[in-house]
Amino acid sequence: MTTFMPRLWSLSSGRFHRQLQLRLQLWHKGLMTSSTTWQNQKQVCRQAPAVCQRSVPLVVFRRQLASQTVQSHVEVTSPIQQTWKEDPQRMLRVKFRDGSENRYPYIWLRDNCFCPSCFLAGTKQRLITMNHLDVNVTPDSISLSKDGELLTLIWPDGHRTEFKSGFLKGILFEERRVSENRHLWGSEILQNVPTFQFQHILDSDKALLGFMTELKNTGMLLVQNVPTEMGQLMKVAERVGFIRVTNYGPVYSIKSKFDATTIGFTGHALNLHTDLSCYVYKPSIQLLHCIKQHRGEGGDSVFSDGFKAVEQLKENDPESFNILSTTVVDFLDYGTDFIKCILKASHTIIKLDQFGETSMVTYADFCRNVHMNMSPEKVYTFYKALKAFYDILNSPENIIKFKLQPGEMIVVDNTRVLHGRTAFTVEAGEERHLEGGYLDWDLVNARIRLLKQRFPSGRLVDERENEQIDIV
Ligand code: OGA
Ligand code: ZN
Ligand code: ZN
Repeated sequence: MTTFMPRLWSLSSGRFHRQLQLRLQLWHKGLMTSSTTWQNQKQVCRQAPAVCQRSVPLVVFRRQLASQTVQSHVEVTSPIQQTWKEDPQRMLRVKFRDGSENRYPYIWLRDNCFCPSCFLAGTKQRLITMNHLDVNVTPDSISLSKDGELLTLIWPDGHRTEFKSGFLKGILFEERRVSENRHLWGSEILQNVPTFQFQHILDSDKALLGFMTELKNTGMLLVQNVPTEMGQLMKVAERVGFIRVTNYGPVYSIKSKFDATTIGFTGHALNLHTDLSCYVYKPSIQLLHCIKQHRGEGGDSVFSDGFKAVEQLKENDPESFNILSTTVVDFLDYGTDFIKCILKASHTIIKLDQFGETSMVTYADFCRNVHMNMSPEKVYTFYKALKAFYDILNSPENIIKFKLQPGEMIVVDNTRVLHGRTAFTVEAGEERHLEGGYLDWDLVNARIRLLKQRFPSGRLVDERENEQIDIV
């Protein structure tokens, strides 16, 4: 392996790096010129107080304390009335003048000290590390300013920590579950697929926020009036952040080819799948832009909400649900397009989070490995479970099928929604052509958080994300 991999990469690494560098330069330029929001955010950030924190005078430090708010646009004033030490639980109980109460573990109060030696305000990152923390720490003294706005704690080593009451008021200690705004769907969504206008997304930050939020909640949407030429997908990607480069390149063309390197590049049907399941970190958002569509029968797009299918499987066939959420499946693919590579990853078809809720679906029959990660005795029940899931995914009540029209772009959450395509006959001179590419949720979520600071109201806001320390 150690001698094999470098040789594979070196075969095309020159081309790969040249192309990647060029692309990144272009995107960077594109971001600087076309994405005014990011520029605006930078300008706002530059106005933020204080740069070097180690020797910040107290007056500046107090200004930093003033920025301990949960959200820049919400001015929380909530004076503290009284505090109690609850030493057996190692917590401080705080009563606010509005009657509400909250409890703050001592170790949390010490860990989240915002003084210049514990916190670098310029980067909004913690300087204090675990080696400086005593998990049994208890404050020696606690005092409250007359107006109830400032709480001061002195620790056994003499260290002083101050908290603005409004900051403490906004702190939540709770286990966070998935977004309540997530909306599972079945075939009924065909009449109501969320639809956005291409130019609107490019021109309006509010439309962009709506687009990204809808994708988060529904897992699929349609963009209309996209010019029928290549390069449009990249414009959408640039509005959000960066494209996710894969072994197919930054973007790629889906056309039937004589020497096809993947079934996608033929006229064969593609069963419902998630793209690039052979990646340990598969791209999490997929974009498909229809430039030219097959005129005859076939070439239709099919979609199914994987999270909904998991819910149904769990309810109707708990044994299969259990098998698919605990059995690791290997996916394997040979990349020969943009670079040569052998991709391999193991996933449970259904991935659950710490609450037992579905966090990802990964499934593609065409690149399931021939080698199985289980004893022969388990193979039959695994296939039975997979078939049960497949049947639910493909049931008429769960799928939607329609033919993408030239000028339409479909955007899909590749961790949740499975997509496929019906077979079509390849005819000379009548080429079907889609452009494909990927984004990742990390950058999309990052962009959503930034834009929400400018558009905080209305149904676009996911309240559960608002407790972040403000970054402006
Ligand atoms: C693919 C794919 C969709 C289509 O190539 O993975 O999903 O409509 N293609 O061709
Ligand atoms: Zn400190
Ligand atoms: Zn696909």
